[in-house]
Amino acid sequence: NKSDSGFPKDFLWGGATAANQCEGAWNEGGKMPSISDVITNGSHKVRREITDGIIEGKYYPSHKAIDHYHRYKEDIALFAEMGFTCYRMSIAWSRIFPTGNETEPNEAGLAHYDFVFDECLKYGIEPLVTISHYEMPLGLLDKGSWLNREVVDDYLRYCKAIFNRYKGKVKHWITFNEINCISFSTWKCAGLKVTDEESKMIAAYHQFIASAQAVKLGHEIDSNNKIGMMFGGVFSYPNTCDPEDVIRNMEYMHNALFYCDVQCRGYYPAYKVKELERKGIELPILEGDSEILLSGKVDFISFSYYFSLVCGKNTPLEANHKHAFDTGYLNPYLEATEWDWKIDPIGLRYALNLFYDRYQIPVMVVENGMGAVDVLEEGIVHDPYRIDYFKSHLKEVKKAIEIDGIPVMGYTSWGCIDLVSAGTGEMKKRYGFIYVDMDDYGNGTLNRYKKDSFYWYKDVIKTNGQEL
Ligand code: BG6
Repeated sequence: NKSDSGFPKDFLWGGATAANQCEGAWNEGGKMPSISDVITNGSHKVRREITDGIIEGKYYPSHKAIDHYHRYKEDIALFAEMGFTCYRMSIAWSRIFPTGNETEPNEAGLAHYDFVFDECLKYGIEPLVTISHYEMPLGLLDKGSWLNREVVDDYLRYCKAIFNRYKGKVKHWITFNEINCISFSTWKCAGLKVTDEESKMIAAYHQFIASAQAVKLGHEIDSNNKIGMMFGGVFSYPNTCDPEDVIRNMEYMHNALFYCDVQCRGYYPAYKVKELERKGIELPILEGDSEILLSGKVDFISFSYYFSLVCGKNTPLEANHKHAFDTGYLNPYLEATEWDWKIDPIGLRYALNLFYDRYQIPVMVVENGMGAVDVLEEGIVHDPYRIDYFKSHLKEVKKAIEIDGIPVMGYTSWGCIDLVSAGTGEMKKRYGFIYVDMDDYGNGTLNRYKKDSFYWYKDVIKTNGQEL
């Protein structure tokens, strides 16, 4: 299956988006609000606010986003021009089951994604679908979101509807985006305002059960389905070779990796069982659950990769919970983006090895990229920094394939078209090969423009990674 370039012949090349960050049309086609529709805009220094319902006068970036809902044909044509063989996108759950509680799916929502998938397939672009990407119907909050086991059934009803409807069109699925981020973003990942450890662990438990059942269901509905998990790229190095730094780093990584362990191995790792015991947290385990977890192991592991971190003996174990990525240490060997994310291409090869050593299942990079301020001049953006970023990262992916022998399924860069930032709600934190003329408050023509990186990526795909 190897081609001369080092990348497999059927390597999936493409880009990734998420419904709430690109579609807009938040209340069209029968859609009701999702948890993303009540998050205001923010910035690198100002946190986004989660409001109680939609408040007049506040700006909610997901409501319009980049209007991909109406412009998907134009956008997919541009992806096709770059030669994409894969488009990672998500379905907005609240288009299919507007409040989450309905017994029957919403036809207008289902039809919309039929159009989108048909458009992709017309160009030979394989859709890779995230079933829940930082998005669940707001209507499910009344029953306690993921703290309530009933939401597992609501999720499975949704999965059943989309697996049946898109059978033959979609073969690659991801059950939850960045599932480990429940540990520091309970709202986005689980529709919860509470942030205590017990709630996080219960929500995660229900998502594991939901994911495992979805894997089984997806295989029953179509044996060609490949269903994966997705890890939000938390990777850290020990600060020094001081054994205390090394052990603290191991514990820090356990906090994140346990999500992968459960989904790839089908049971809770010993270190997590002990930790839950120590903390006095009891999971809401029902009879038959361990069989569910075991029978719903994922077919592949996918992950986002933007940066790496450093941990040491002074890193509090709750650091990634309370302050997201603040471990108390910075890597002096690496440069950072304008949003202070440390750029570490070699860490991507390290991450691919970490997963393959641990699970021996296919791996896919489903998000990678650099958020930067771009300047549109006479219809074009010159973005050599972005090309450098991608080039250096893809070289490491190639090494992971050629030197380490890892079955890397594909690579979808994040935000292949500029979209709303999940972290800050900004538009100016841009990741795309395609520039969208819109500012942080939704002003602009929304016209699309090709950046220099567009032409560069097109060549990379055309030569299957030979031209890096
Ligand atoms: C990942 C998410 O965490 O990182 C995306 O899956 C997100 O939804 C991406 O957009 C980049 O983060 P940000 O905050 O720069 O948008």
